[in-house]
Amino acid sequence: MEYFNNILETIGNTPLVKLNKITKGIKATVLAKVETTNPGNSVKDRMAVKMVDDAEKKGWIKPGGTVIEGTSGNTGMGLALACIVKGYKLICVLNDKQSREKMDILRAVGAEVIVCPTNVEPTDPRSYYSVARRLATEIPNSWYVNQYDNLSNTAAHYEQTGPEIWKQTDGKITHFVVGVGTGGTISGIGKYLKEKNPAVKCFGIDTYGSVFKKYHETGIFDENEIYPYITEGIGEDILPKNVDFSVIDLFEKVTDKDAAIMTRRLAREEGIFVGNSAGAALAGLLQLADKFTEKDVVVVLFHDHGSRYVGKMFNDEWMRERGFLQEGLKNALDIVSRYKNRTLVTCGSEELVSHAVAKMKSQNISQIPITKNGDFVGFVDDSRLYQQIIENASVMDTPLHKVMNEALPILGANASLEEISSKINRQTPAVIINLGENNYHIITRHDLVSALA
Ligand SMILES: Cc1ncc(COP(=O)(O)O)c(C=O)c1O
Repeated sequence: MEYFNNILETIGNTPLVKLNKITKGIKATVLAKVETTNPGNSVKDRMAVKMVDDAEKKGWIKPGGTVIEGTSGNTGMGLALACIVKGYKLICVLNDKQSREKMDILRAVGAEVIVCPTNVEPTDPRSYYSVARRLATEIPNSWYVNQYDNLSNTAAHYEQTGPEIWKQTDGKITHFVVGVGTGGTISGIGKYLKEKNPAVKCFGIDTYGSVFKKYHETGIFDENEIYPYITEGIGEDILPKNVDFSVIDLFEKVTDKDAAIMTRRLAREEGIFVGNSAGAALAGLLQLADKFTEKDVVVVLFHDHGSRYVGKMFNDEWMRERGFLQEGLKNALDIVSRYKNRTLVTCGSEELVSHAVAKMKSQNISQIPITKNGDFVGFVDDSRLYQQIIENASVMDTPLHKVMNEALPILGANASLEEISSKINRQTPAVIINLGENNYHIITRHDLVSALA
């Protein structure tokens, strides 16, 4: 019989897969270490189990205890598998930037999930770092994993992932490229590969909004580098102990948009359905194309599975809202087609201001065209209307024709983006589009900006 004694034994020995299409312009052989075949669908299974094993050996966790971690989901999944097999309770503390799917998956494997705000300082008591630490002091027989500073994280990759890559490439690897979050993956693999061959180069992929690149290049921890970003799993606003800057040759930053687009391309062009940090890693590798020669063997590691991002990077609506879809929009009809399900909300000129305010609130819109006998005779917008109401509350009972602004311009369905943008300004927040047969739509400043972005 050939079987594993439990699910943890199936971790590792992930495949190395040649990329053929997206990397056509790269002279080197590019191989992807695809970590989705781990039972928790990510590379993090490796370090999660190693951290629990080491904690047991050191006596930090006793039978029946509670494991607590601040995790973006993948480490939580690995910890959940380890806790199920080894008999511990698991609490995962996440920030609210993480995808809904990741949270649901953690709950599915028995973890308790606590969600904290993203946009607070790491030292803020509401941050997920702080909440995880606090729970560990409050709950008896509990252990705070701390994947950022727990060096068993790096050790797992030094002991497993590094040797696998070395063996699979028959020692021919010249470059290793990977997204950096806690730093465990790049530091462990990088250390092993450099010990085997000091000429191997390690390139870390970073995000705009993270401190790594600047710190690596200047030694300065610059708080101005920190701002919210969308890419998941990589980049940090802290310097985790697991980032061993000495094994990293350079950091390359990738935009949220480029990472998201590449995540989709990997699925569609290579048939490799992986997560957002994989898209970032490959986009970064392409940005670094001039560093590779024909003789080089470049390994890029893909951390996790695409299924965790179906509501985000793989969702057209989500991509569109962020201006990430390259749709080649040319005219008014193209923009209007993106909002097919939206109907034009209007008010009659005799209706009261209070009606317009109620409609704006319930429909979550900022402007309403005003009609009379089927013609557009004016419009109201929230900012000017609210100003008038603040100055004189009785405006609420005034008919709209007394307070409305001059009618919005009406353009045809073929109006170009340039024509539309020439009409939209501070006074005119939108244009009406005549689609024919008495059918009208609206294009707002916001619609235009997201079409142009
Ligand atoms: C999806 C994903 N990508 C990349 C990373 C970064 O890996 P590391 O923390 O080992 O640097 C993580 C880690 O949290 C991750 O979950």
